[in-house]
Amino acid sequence: MNILVTGGTGYIGSHTCVALLEAGYNIIVADNLCNSRVEAIDKIQQITNEDVTFYQIDVIEEKSVETLFSKHKLDGVIHFAGLKAVGESVKIPISYYYNNIVSTMVLAKACQKFGVKRFVFSSSATVYGDNTVPFVETMDLLPTTNPYGETKAMSEKILTDIAKANPEFSVALLRYFNPVGAHANGLIGEAPNGIPNNLMPYVTQVAKGKLDKLRVFGNDYPTTDGTGVRDYIHVLDLAEGHVAALDNLKEGAHIYNLGTGKGTSVLELVKAFEDANGIEVPYEIVDRRPGDVASCYADVSKAKKEFGWTAKRDIIAMCRDAWRFEKNLKSY
Ligand code: NAD
Ligand code: UFG
Repeated sequence: MNILVTGGTGYIGSHTCVALLEAGYNIIVADNLCNSRVEAIDKIQQITNEDVTFYQIDVIEEKSVETLFSKHKLDGVIHFAGLKAVGESVKIPISYYYNNIVSTMVLAKACQKFGVKRFVFSSSATVYGDNTVPFVETMDLLPTTNPYGETKAMSEKILTDIAKANPEFSVALLRYFNPVGAHANGLIGEAPNGIPNNLMPYVTQVAKGKLDKLRVFGNDYPTTDGTGVRDYIHVLDLAEGHVAALDNLKEGAHIYNLGTGKGTSVLELVKAFEDANGIEVPYEIVDRRPGDVASCYADVSKAKKEFGWTAKRDIIAMCRDAWRFEKNLKSY
C-alpha cells in the first residue's frame, strides 16, 4: 500500500515512517521543511534500508498536492504536517489557523478527487481542555486556551463532517498525549529550534549543559507532588499506534487516544531521567505557566480494544532514548 505521510521529516512523522516501512507499507513523504531537515529522509532510509520518495512541498498549496496525488496511486494519507507551538499560536493565530486548517481541507479534497479512502489525522489531547482525567474519547470537548488547540478541534470537526457525507471515507482522529524519546539507535529524535517549550527536550538540554537548570512551572497543583501530571508516551509506541490505526481503519470518522494511561508528574520525570542516565538535573520551582492544566492522561481502552495496540515502553526507556539522541545531536 502507498501511504502519503505529510510532515514525515518531523519528529513524530519520521518515527512513523520507520514503523510504516518496517510494517511493509510504501511511503511518500511531503514536507515543506519549515520545522525539520531533509536529512531525516536519509536517516529513515538508513534505519530501514528502504527507499523513500520525498517532495518538498507545502500541503496548503492545492496545485502541488494534486500533482503529487496524480503521480502516485495513493491508498491512504497520514497528515502530520502542522504548526505545533502553543505559545507561538497565541502570537500569530492567523498562521496557525491558515496552515493547520487549510492543509487538512486541501488534503481531504484531494482524497475525494483521487478516490483515496483512508485518512489518519494528528490531533492532540489538548482538545479535552480542563476535563476530568482520565480523558475518554466520548467526552464533550472544552475550549482550549490557544489557537493551536482550536485548529485541532476544528480539523477533527471538518474531517468528521466529510466522513458523514462520504461514508466510504475512513478517518482516524488520533489524540496524542505527550510524545517523548527517540529511536533507540539515536539517529532520529526531537530537535526543537531555540529554547525548548516542552519538558523532555528542556531536561535533556539541561543534562547536556546547554541550559543551566529546569524551571518547574508550579508545585501547587492538586496532584501527588503539586507539579503538573502528563501522560508521556514513547514516540516509537506512538508510531506503532499509527500503523495499528491504519491497519484497523473503518468507515466513518473515529477518535482514539494514543497515550499510556499513566500520569507522571514533572518531578517524577526528572527523577526518572536522573535514574535512567545517572545525571543530575538541577531545577527550581517557578510560577505556573499560563494555560497549563493540572493533569492530563488518557483512558486507553478504546485503542486497545479496536486496534489491539497498547504502549509498551516505560518512562525509563523514554528518558534513556531521549538522552541518547541529545548526546548524538551534533551529527543530526
Ligand atoms: P514537527 O514540527 O516535528 O513536525 C511537523 C512537520 O510538518 C515538520 O516537518 C514541518 O516542516 C511540517 N509542516 C508544517 N506545516 C507544513 C505544511 N504546510 N506543508 C508541509 N509541511 C509542513 O511536529 P511533531 O511533533 O512531529 O508533530 C506532528 C503532528 O502531531 C503535528 O500536527 C502536531 O500538531 C501533532 N501533535 C504533536 C504533539 C507533540 O507533543 N509533539 C502532540 C499532539 C499533537
Ligand atoms: N514544564 C515545566 N517546565 C518546562 C516545560 C514544561 O515545568 O520547562 C511542565 C509543564 O508545566 C507541564 C509538563 O511539564 O506540567 C509538560 O509540559 P510540556 O510543555 O512538555 O507539554 P504540554 O502538556 O504542555 O503540551 C504538550 C504539547 C502540546 C500537546 C499536549 C498534548 O506541547 O502541543 O502536550 O497533551 F497538545
